Formats: sequence, C-alpha cells, structure tokens
Amino acid sequence: MKKLSLLLCCCLVHALSFGQVAQSGLSIIPEPVKTTRLAGQFLLPKSVIVEAGSQPELASITSYLKKKLTTAAGSSVTIKSVAPTASIKLILNKTTDAAIGTEGYTLSVKAKKIVIRANEAAGLFYGVQTLMQLLPADIESAQLVKNVKWTVPCVEITDYPRFAWRGLMFDVARHFFTKAEVKQYIDAMVKYKLNLLHLHLTDDEGWRVEIKSLPKLTTVGAYNVKKVGQFGTFSPPAANEPRTYGGFYTQDDIRELVQYAKERFVNILPEIDVPGHSLAAVVAYPELSCTPGADKYVVNSGEPFMNWDGPHNTAIVDNTLCPANENVYTFLDKVVTEVAQLFPFGYIHMGGDECAKNFWEQSDAIKALMAKEGLKTQQEVQSYFEKRLEKIVESKGKKFMGWDEIIEGGLGPNAAVMSWRGIKGGIEAAKQGHEVVMSPTTFAYLDYMQSDRVNETKIYATLRLSKSYEFEPVPDSVDAKLIKGGQANLWTEQVYNIRQAEYMTWPRGMAIAESVWSPKQKKSWPYFFGKVEKQFDRFNAAETKYAPSAYDPSFNGIRNADGTLKITLINEVDGLDTYYSFDNSFPDNFYPKYTQPIDAPKDATTLRVITYRGKKPIGRMVTMPLSELNSRVK
Ligand code: ACM
Repeated sequence: MKKLSLLLCCCLVHALSFGQVAQSGLSIIPEPVKTTRLAGQFLLPKSVIVEAGSQPELASITSYLKKKLTTAAGSSVTIKSVAPTASIKLILNKTTDAAIGTEGYTLSVKAKKIVIRANEAAGLFYGVQTLMQLLPADIESAQLVKNVKWTVPCVEITDYPRFAWRGLMFDVARHFFTKAEVKQYIDAMVKYKLNLLHLHLTDDEGWRVEIKSLPKLTTVGAYNVKKVGQFGTFSPPAANEPRTYGGFYTQDDIRELVQYAKERFVNILPEIDVPGHSLAAVVAYPELSCTPGADKYVVNSGEPFMNWDGPHNTAIVDNTLCPANENVYTFLDKVVTEVAQLFPFGYIHMGGDECAKNFWEQSDAIKALMAKEGLKTQQEVQSYFEKRLEKIVESKGKKFMGWDEIIEGGLGPNAAVMSWRGIKGGIEAAKQGHEVVMSPTTFAYLDYMQSDRVNETKIYATLRLSKSYEFEPVPDSVDAKLIKGGQANLWTEQVYNIRQAEYMTWPRGMAIAESVWSPKQKKSWPYFFGKVEKQFDRFNAAETKYAPSAYDPSFNGIRNADGTLKITLINEVDGLDTYYSFDNSFPDNFYPKYTQPIDAPKDATTLRVITYRGKKPIGRMVTMPLSELNSRVK
C-alpha cells in the first residue's frame, strides 16, 4: 500500500510537472526552463514607466522595449534609472544568480508590476522577448493597433539556454540580400532567442564582402546575370548579357550590420568558403587557379557547372583555389586580415565543403606538391591547405572553423567543425577533442522542401517541421562539453527574395530554436505545434512570411495487383481532417474524408486534397498528379 501510494504520488508529480509544460497555455517558444502560472493579469498602462539601470549595455534593450510598446500598443514609455513606481523593471543582478548563467533571466509578472532580472544584459533582452510573447500577438505589428486589451498573464519564469551557440546560417552569396533584409532576418531570429547569424559570404555565384586590398573580388566577383526559374538548370549566359545582378556589403555596411546584431545580442560568424565554391574569387583573380584557361571563366549565374552526383562531386569548370600555389596563401592572408578586423566574433568559418578534386588530379603543380609534402590523396592535399589556412586564421587572433569535410585527410590542431553531412563528422571531431557545432541536413537544412515536392520550390529533399523538431545536438557517446550548440542553414540557390527566405526559415527556425534553448525533457511535438500555431498570429501581425506546409499531408503510394495505386495520406499534425477528390474538382468538407488508404480509380489522373480543422479549411489545396505518384512507385 505504501508502495502504491508512493507510485501514485510519483505519477501525480510527473503529471503535474509535464502538465505544467503542456497546459501553461502561454505558447512561449523556445519553451522556458520553468514556468509557474499565477492567477490574474497585468494591464499595460497608457503611460508606462520602465526602470532600468543606466549601464550603457541596457540602452539597446530599453529602446527595443520602448519601440515595441509605443508602436503597436500606443503607450507612452518613459525610461528612468530609478523609479519606485515603475510598472516594468529591468534589473541587472548585483550578485550573480548562478542558476541562470550569462544569458538566463527571471521574469515575474504581477498585477501591478513586471520585473525581469538577469546577470548580464543578454538575459534581460531574452526576458523582454519572453514578455513580448506574453502580450497579445498584435504587439508585433508595425502600426498602432486599436481595441486590443494589452494584458500579460501573471507568471513566474526562470529560464536559461541549453547551448551558447544557437545559430541560423543565411547564404547571401547564391542570391544577394541587402543590408536592410539581413536586419529584417535578424529581427525575426532574436524573437526566438537565436544568437548567432552565420553569413555565408562567398560562393561560386558571388563574393559579398568588400576586401579593400583585393577590389576585384567585389567589382568583378559580386555580379552575375539575372536568371529566373529553376536555379542550376539555366542556359549559359551569352557574352552580351549584362553582369549586373548581385551586390556586396561595403566594409561600412558590415560594421553597421555587426553593430545592429550586437544591439540584439547576436554575433555574426563570417564564412569565406574555400578552397571549393570559389568561382567568384577565381574569376576576379584567375591566377589563384591551378587550371589553365581560368581567365575565361565567369561568375556562375545558375547554369550547370558541377556534377553533384556520387559521393564526390566533380567540377565542369574548376571552381577551386589551388593549394599548390603560394599566391593563394598570400591572397587568403589578405582576406582573413580584413575579415578578422571587420567581425569581432571569435571564429572565422573558412568553408571547406564539397571541394571538387578532379582538376587537382590533372594538375602538375598539385602532383609536385604531393611529392614534396608526401601527400597520398587529394583529401590530404585539402588537409594540407586547411592546416595552412588554420595558421593564417589563428595569426589574426581568431579560431578556425570549417564544414566537416575538413576532417578528411586529417584535422588541424585547433580546428572547430560544423557537422552538416549528418552528425557523424561532429562525432568524429568531438572524439578527437575538437569543438563542434551541429547543423545536420537531416534536421537543420532550411533550404529543403517543407512538404511534398508538388507544393514546394523544388530542391534535393524534404525536411518536415516535425523532423526538424527532433533535432538533438548532443549524440550519445561524445563529450557534451565539446558540442557548442546547433544551427539551421538556409542555402539560397532557389531563394530569390526575402519573403521566400522567411517562408523557408519559419516555422522550422522555431523547431531549431527550441532544440538549442530548451531542456531536452521539455520537448513535446504536439505541444510545440500548438504553440507554433499561436506564433503564426505573431508572424501575421509582424507581416513576416512563414510556411503553412505542416498542414499539407505526405503522400505514399503502393501498387495494387491490378496496377492501380493505393494511396496513404499522413498528417504530421494531429486533429486534422483530410478531404479528397479524384474527379479534378476542388474538395471541401462535403467531400469524402480520408480515413484509410484509398484506391485511385483506374482512369483518374489527379488526386486533390485539403485539410480542415472542424469546419475551417486549414491546409492548402494540394494537387497531386497521379502520374507523379506512379513515377515514385517501383
Ligand atoms: C554544405 O551544405 N555544402 C555545407
């Protein structure tokens, strides 16, 4: 009996602690470490006094808070360093609260007063972000919103991140995004407490950062020919087509972006991708190539130039810097010198991914280097290059980071590794004692489609929201201290504008944010998705685009004995009804409801589906040609 009551007691405690997560009703993403909901609410006064210390690092936080409360809610906000009657207080702890670390905070909302405390300014900023998520969604509006009761539920929150590295990578090389667009991207990421923006600044399609000692990188390397359609399949540009598409950030632009990010507690990690992905640099300075004729190359505009099939990609034009050429190291020293001065963050990412070796195999200079240095494989040639590059980066006082290919052929002594081809590279690097950031394609590639390819901009693979949410940065079997955190990567071959960049980033960016901030045991997919839906209201208010793809079913076909198709529809979201048609008309909730795998009528050509919640259409109308499903079935 005693045992039974103990068991009951344990179950109750478990149910309560889980229930506390699942039923706080607060929809905060990422889920805070501890939330205690209290009765009552705070009503935002028309005239708000905010007390915040006069430390300079708090200025950007108070102006952020002031802007939010004045813009949408129309309150007048006064900031004071001492104000006993303040309704919102931001307090930097005089004695460190060890429980919340450098980025954590406590947030106390009572009927008459809101208090955020933290050890450092970053924590106050994150406390403010949580407070924003507790206000009505319209707080995200860029215009005054009338007739809203601006209340905050009473609550006590203690919160701090699981990882220090909570990143998003934005590829501004394949397509260029303006300084204003990068700021817009930062504005969205900080709402979910992401703190690292990795800018992929160089690639075959463009070099995006001004290097004063190497002006042709941007006068020549920043521009290609504007093409629209399916990137990678374009016709080769004619000689007379204007090379005016693209752009770059001047050094002043970079300083402005770094400052903008800093005021929002975001570090910018610059990536200069070498020795592969370097066509823009080679076009600007053909002497960096091992291959005769490189002076005839042009910056890629999306025409085929690589063969991506097979385990090792091969280049049709040599887009690599030559490891056997001393000029390359002089060039890299100049680039890294300026990059190190521009970006205060401690790491510089030097790429290293997908470097084609087929031109190196043909090169006499590479053969001579191999003989001289005793290098047996092309991977060892790349490793030779990476180790020299690591020394250059370290000579500028920075830490060297690269994609997981830098492990092949042997890692340099202090290299940090970003694991993208799954987590195995990260595991291997950590086992060798190196720092690792996890950003595996399997969970964190934001360029992948979010539902069936018939609905999305076509690219290699699909990564659904529920799969992104399974992201776990720390594999069993490695020293967790070496895993600095995780990030999601937005490559932009098929992303032509900032609206599409937002569509690809959200909501999966929230899944990654919760995976790198919240305690592992607090994660729950159905609960998370409920919160995501509430966040969609905030995205609507902010006019930030997001993908509704989680409402689209997955399609799975098998062949019946008579040759027709049997089709299974799977929803990743619970509680939806799916209605369908095979007669080319547009289904609604008066059509057949999907309850079990369906047989396609022999002469049907099209399956159309739509998901509803109750009587409300919630998903998109999806049109699946049966020829497409047939082609997928063996
Ligand atoms: C990569 O996705 N090529 C790092």
